[in-house]
Amino acid sequence: MLLRCGSSSSLIFYALFYLCSVSAISGYKDTDEPTIRTMNEFSGYPFDETQLHSQALIVDGENLQKQIDELATFSDTPVPSVTRVLYTENDVIARRYIKMLMGLAGLSVREDAVGNIFGRWEGYEPNLAPVASGSHIDAIPYSGKYDGVVGVLGAIESINTLRRSGFKPRRSLDIIMFTSEEPTRFGISCLGSRLMAGSEILLKALETTVDNQNISFVDAARSAGYAQEKNDLTSVFLKKGSYAAFVELHIEQGPILEDEGISIGIVTAIAAPASIKVDFEGGGGHAGAVLMPYRNDAGLAAAQLALAVEKHVLESGSIDTVGTVGILDLHPGAINSIPSKSHLEIDTRDIDEERRNKVIKKVHDSAESIAKARGVRLAEFNIINQDPPAISDDSIVKAMISASEELNLSHKLMISRAYHDSLFMARVSPMGMIFIPCFKGYSHKPEEHASVQDISNGVRVLALTLAKLSQK
Ligand code: GLV
Ligand code: MN
Ligand code: MN
Repeated sequence: MLLRCGSSSSLIFYALFYLCSVSAISGYKDTDEPTIRTMNEFSGYPFDETQLHSQALIVDGENLQKQIDELATFSDTPVPSVTRVLYTENDVIARRYIKMLMGLAGLSVREDAVGNIFGRWEGYEPNLAPVASGSHIDAIPYSGKYDGVVGVLGAIESINTLRRSGFKPRRSLDIIMFTSEEPTRFGISCLGSRLMAGSEILLKALETTVDNQNISFVDAARSAGYAQEKNDLTSVFLKKGSYAAFVELHIEQGPILEDEGISIGIVTAIAAPASIKVDFEGGGGHAGAVLMPYRNDAGLAAAQLALAVEKHVLESGSIDTVGTVGILDLHPGAINSIPSKSHLEIDTRDIDEERRNKVIKKVHDSAESIAKARGVRLAEFNIINQDPPAISDDSIVKAMISASEELNLSHKLMISRAYHDSLFMARVSPMGMIFIPCFKGYSHKPEEHASVQDISNGVRVLALTLAKLSQK
């Protein structure tokens, strides 16, 4: 109840703020005349066209932390956990909060038909392809407050930082909040960025996709104020080359940076993810009366397949191959009823796409042989996505390295084992990612944490990288 009161009064507050910020946007006018000036004149610091003086980049880490904490309160589960699922009430409130902050940063805000949110700082050569940064704010059930959020709030703060420094971008800078990076509601990861990258398969799938309450994607989107026009989802597609560069800031979600005492991870590649849905159907029956030789237990078929996933992953012989059964549902779900149906969702990834595909093939073969041996039916083996890895762009990697060096921050090249919207932005734009350390590498759980210092370092590297890329 308290939470409810809190969120509705906050809502009024944000609504007022948003209205103010919208008028701030429309009333926003660069006072700098003429618009094209040298970097020196804008910054007040001596630098050539590609170098912004690193001392001028001052991040308001304390305020950024307050925003992270505030955003975390828009959650379906209690603190310290965060649960924010696509198009729910808390997701919609959180979206308003992001738009309000974008407005306060002087960005002009627009949303597309699935709710990807864009905030633009117009450059002095607005006809050039912009440079973009962003991430997501949706949160899987009982997760933490930093995954994705650092890359959205941090990117907005990077704009504030650049503005405070006196910098003026040549190319426009776009901050993007992507819709549903997490697959929680509709089972589709990176929904917003996947669609932006022009996935026809996703476009088609969205016509019939429903959540576990049988609410269709389109109805859910409409209830949040999106997808109002019929068939307008193609308007989300971006042409290749729409952006000159895309850079995402994110917590590492692994322990390497913290273990090695390194401030910045520069991502060279993102591992290839795949997800599969499997359904078995068996005979069911009474847990006491049906004797063991006469059972066709769909639950045991699922359990056996879960173990087979682990086996096939380990058979790859590489530490880079991983597999997880994160969802396992039994029907009817009564202690004294043999499961007549089971449902598994399998996540498998590898930096080597071929090796990951071999795992998928083996899991499929196992599902068929387990079904046969147990006399159950393999009702569904549906590969939801089977994405290739993404490789970072060399010139963005160089820009991130030199930004780290100019800021005197230790850095190392690394692979992202988690997927990100960058995986799909790489299809329409040169891509790069900046990682910061997080406590014990924890992620997707409430203990997820990153220090204000590490976040601020990441924002400074992001700001300087965006500045460099925007001048190219
Ligand atoms: C992203 O959330 C992932 O699962 O890698
Ligand atoms: Mn995540
Ligand atoms: Mn994330």
